[in-house]
Amino acid sequence: MLWCFLLLWILLRCADSFSVTVPSSPVLVVRGATASLSCEFEPDSNISNLVITWQREEDTRVVHSFYYQKDQLERQSSDYFNRTKLNHNELAKGNASLSIANFGLKDAGKYLCTVSNTKGTGKGVLELVYAAFFSEPRLSIHLKSSDVTVQYEMEGYPRPEVMWLGPEGQNLSYLQEFTSTSDGGLYYLKSRYVTQNPAFNITFTLKNPTAHQELQRHVILSYDGNINSRTSVVALSILCIFLMCSTGLLLWLYCRDKQR
Ligand SMILES: *[C@@H]1O[C@H](CO)[C@@H](O)[C@H](O)[C@H]1NC(C)=O
Ligand SMILES: *[C@@H]1O[C@H](CO)[C@@H](O)[C@H](O)[C@H]1NC(C)=O
Ligand SMILES: *[C@@H]1O[C@H](CO)[C@@H](O)[C@H](O)[C@H]1NC(C)=O
Ligand SMILES: *[C@@H]1O[C@H](CO)[C@@H](O)[C@H](O)[C@H]1NC(C)=O
Ligand SMILES: *[C@@H]1O[C@H](CO)[C@@H](O)[C@H](O)[C@H]1NC(C)=O
Repeated sequence: MLWCFLLLWILLRCADSFSVTVPSSPVLVVRGATASLSCEFEPDSNISNLVITWQREEDTRVVHSFYYQKDQLERQSSDYFNRTKLNHNELAKGNASLSIANFGLKDAGKYLCTVSNTKGTGKGVLELVYAAFFSEPRLSIHLKSSDVTVQYEMEGYPRPEVMWLGPEGQNLSYLQEFTSTSDGGLYYLKSRYVTQNPAFNITFTLKNPTAHQELQRHVILSYDGNINSRTSVVALSILCIFLMCSTGLLLWLYCRDKQR
């Protein structure tokens, strides 16, 4: 009985004597940014026994490892080649934070930080979430005799929440298309509002909650008078120019014939 308590006491002492601390909530990293994976442990000023291993939790791929007082990258997954950095000056302070450059969709997921030194061994898992800010929406307006199409195009990740609102803030119905880029890390989005009304005041809104991004763009189209009468003015002008030209040509031909 006494032995059991003693064993439990030793185990508990061992368990809390060495701990590895990583962020408990998922960390957002945007496309192309350098991710900073924080991992702290109880320091030992003598790093000759220090072993640090960063791995993907899902498939144990090696992201980065350190022992014998240097980076050991022979077993590093090719996905992380030349992208990781461990700050050696921080190791004696108990900081095993790793940076991963040029973050992409494939890098999203869980990372395991395992540390062992003379004081013990411990591990922690942290999660990285990927998102891409939506680019500035590109506006195009297409006018037809029957209707007007207002279109916005943009790229980002993941799929956003889109709304088209009328002047009183009411929801308008719209058409939308999504396409995924070759690496899957961006969505190309085309959102369209079609109306028969040649004058309008509408608002396009886009929300990307993962990236804490919100966009709002107003489109106001107004026109004076009647489109048909304007078209006839243009047609009439063209007709006048045509008539003037042909009269000129006829006169010239007539004069030329007379001179012969
Ligand atoms: C660090 O530890 C190693 C092995 O445990 C030992 O050989 C070395 O002398 C130590 N260095 C210092 C500066 O204490
Ligand atoms: C590693 O990355 C650096 C820039 O971060 C670059 O200059 C160098 O050429 C890369 N090395 C290889 C082998 O790709
Ligand atoms: C740990 O090291 C990283 C990379 O050098 C640094 O950005 C971070 O501030 C350090 N953390 C602490 C708690 O010192
Ligand atoms: C358009 O509608 C908004 C309300 O959604 C209003 O504040 C704004 O004044 C309107 N603009 C015009 C030119 O009508
Ligand atoms: C418009 O639709 C969105 C969902 O698409 C909804 O959250 C919002 O409450 C609606 N707004 C109005 C004014 O109906």
